[in-house]
Amino acid sequence: MARRWTNTLTPEDVTPEAAFWNRRQIIAGMAGMGLASLAGPVRAAEGDLEPNSWDDVTSYCNFYEFGTGKSDPKTYAGRMTTSPWSVKIDGLVDKPGDYDFQQILGEMTIEERIYRFRCVEAWSMVVPWNGFELADLLNMAGVQEGAKYVAFETLYRPEEMPGTAYRVLDWPYREGLRLDEAMHPLTLMATGIFGKPLPNQNGAPLRLVVPWKYGFKSIKSIVRITLTDQEPPTSWNMANAREYGFYSNVNPNVDHPRWSQATERRIGSGMFASREPTLMFNGYEEEVASLYAGMDLTKQF
Ligand code: MTE
Repeated sequence: MARRWTNTLTPEDVTPEAAFWNRRQIIAGMAGMGLASLAGPVRAAEGDLEPNSWDDVTSYCNFYEFGTGKSDPKTYAGRMTTSPWSVKIDGLVDKPGDYDFQQILGEMTIEERIYRFRCVEAWSMVVPWNGFELADLLNMAGVQEGAKYVAFETLYRPEEMPGTAYRVLDWPYREGLRLDEAMHPLTLMATGIFGKPLPNQNGAPLRLVVPWKYGFKSIKSIVRITLTDQEPPTSWNMANAREYGFYSNVNPNVDHPRWSQATERRIGSGMFASREPTLMFNGYEEEVASLYAGMDLTKQF
């Protein structure tokens, strides 16, 4: 079942000119891929560019459990066993327990969503994800009143993860979202890319994708999801709070202390391609800006 994220954006909406031109390019791009029938009204942010290649997406990765080099995950993640796989859902839920991944898959509606993926190191990719809405999984477990945050943990299995011998991060890798962010329909639990199951280096068998946040929020190979009333600790924030905040929203106006976040380099676009301006909330401003109304995003970054 393939569905693209659509909305009712018209050319007169936010950043009118860019949106207008982007839409024209996307629809042209999709027609070229034989996907025109699925296009419908296409989001400006996701479709202005064609997806990256399978090689870009699976060879240039961050998965520090397998090493800090971009090619380490592809080289070493093959040794991670991903079957059987279960996900513990606990904390403030009606039905806590260990859920088998295949059982979860059977209950969820798998869709295809093309999202721009923006890394804090100022590069980006466009990835066709397959997956289901995190909200569906949380609703299945039954979120209790009082839950305000969702905490995630990655598998920690040192014998299969050579990178965990180094304490670059405090293992297991941890991430978190506020409950309203987690329940937002754009927030995906990805189970595949390009219509195929996730390769290990991309976080098999399931990982988070939050398209308006920097890539490091997209925690891979998830084994635990906990509903809590406290903001959970997150790996990058624990490692360096000055550089990595809890929210991690893509924001061209708030620089990372060591890099400008105003522009990005599209992976695979060639050495001489010009950098592109980064969009507020990675282009999903219309959908998510209201979640942060009244917050000072220079302080809560
Ligand atoms: N999840 C785990 N468990 N370990 C990691 O090191 N790296 C993060 C995120 N999820 C990471 C992780 C970072 S920094 C990025 S940019 C994305 O994964 C990269 O996802 P990709 O390799 O599929 O592009």
